[in-house]
Amino acid sequence: MEKLKCASFFAGVGGIDLGFEQTGGFKTIYANEFDPYPAETFKKNFPNVDVIVQNINDIKEDNVPDHDVLLAGFPCQAFSVAGYRQGFDDKKGRGELFFQLARIIAKKKPSIVFLENVKNLVGHDNGNTFQVIIESLKAEGYHVKYQVLNAMEYGNICQNRERIYIVGFRDKAQYQRFVFPMPIPLTSTLSDIIDFEEKKDDKYYYIDGKYKGDIYQKLVAAIDDPSAVYQWRRKYVRKNKSGVVPTLTANQGEGGHNVCIIKTKHGIRKMTPEECFYTQGFPKSWKLPDNMADSRLYKQAGNSVCVSVIERIAEEILRAVNG
Ligand SMILES: C[S@@+](CC[C@H](N)C(=O)[O-])C[C@H]1O[C@@H](n2cnc3c(N)ncnc32)[C@H](O)[C@@H]1O
Repeated sequence: MEKLKCASFFAGVGGIDLGFEQTGGFKTIYANEFDPYPAETFKKNFPNVDVIVQNINDIKEDNVPDHDVLLAGFPCQAFSVAGYRQGFDDKKGRGELFFQLARIIAKKKPSIVFLENVKNLVGHDNGNTFQVIIESLKAEGYHVKYQVLNAMEYGNICQNRERIYIVGFRDKAQYQRFVFPMPIPLTSTLSDIIDFEEKKDDKYYYIDGKYKGDIYQKLVAAIDDPSAVYQWRRKYVRKNKSGVVPTLTANQGEGGHNVCIIKTKHGIRKMTPEECFYTQGFPKSWKLPDNMADSRLYKQAGNSVCVSVIERIAEEILRAVNG
C-alpha cells in the first residue's frame, strides 16, 4: 500500500515524524522549522526530506506540497503552566501560532491532522483556548478526538510525560473507527535508556570544586538511591520517583538548572544528551550532529515528543484509515 504523505510543522528534530514513519504507513515529505539547530538534527536523520527553515508566518500555503496528514507539535510555552500563562495573548506571539497552522490547514485540507501539546492546554484560560482550537478544526470540516496520554503508561518508556494528542479526520467513518491506544505495562527500565556502566566524558560528572558554591556537597548528601533521577533546582536537589525520569523540558541544562542527575559507578553525573533522546523513545540509531553544543541538544530532546506514544497513536490512525 502506498504510504500516506505527511507535512510537518514546528517540526523540531522530527520526533512526531519518526513515530509515524516507524509504523511503515507514513512518509514525511515536507517539514518546516525556523530554528536552524533542530532543523540540522532533523536533516541528519531524514536526509531526503525537504526541511524549510523559515518562520511559519512566512510560509505560503501554495509552497506546501499536497499531503494526507498534517503533523504539528506547536510551541507550548504560550499554553504551559510553566510558561507565561498568557495563551493567545502571549506577547511574543506564540499563542497565535496555532492560527498560522489553521491557515495552512484551511488551504491544504489534509485528510488528517495530528497535533500534540502540553496537558495544560485543555484548562488554559478556563478552557477557552482549547475550545478555540477544537472549534477552528471543526469549522474546517474535521471530526476531532483528543486524549492526554502519559509516556510511562502508553509508551513503555520510563518518563513521566503527560501530553495531549489531538487527532482530526475529514472522513467521518475514519473518525468513528479511530480509538486512542490502550495503556500498556511499563516493562522498560532506567538502564534501557541510561548507561550506568560506561564512563562518559568528564564534562558530565560533578566533582568537588568544579562548580561554584556547595552544589557538589548537596548532591552527595541527597543522592542515596541509584534507581532514582535527581534534578538540581537552582538551590536544592529534587528527588524524583524511583525508576522514572521526570518530564524532560526545553530549558533543561540552562545554567545547570533542571538537568537530570544520576549516580553511576563512575560518579554522580548529568544524563547525556543521547540519554535524553532515548528517554523520549528515540532509537539507538538516532544521529546527533557533530559539534553541536550540549545545551542545544538538551533543548531539542526536551522540546520533542515520546516517539513510542506517537507510534502507537499513528498505528491506530492507520487502522482507522484502512478500515
Ligand atoms: C514543541 S517544539 C516541537 C518539537 C517537535 N515535535 C520534535 O519532535 O522535535 C516546537 C518547535 O516549533 C518551533 N517554532 C517556534 N516558533 C516557530 C515559528 N514561528 N515558525 C516555525 N517554527 C517555530 C521551535 O523552534 C520548536 O522547535
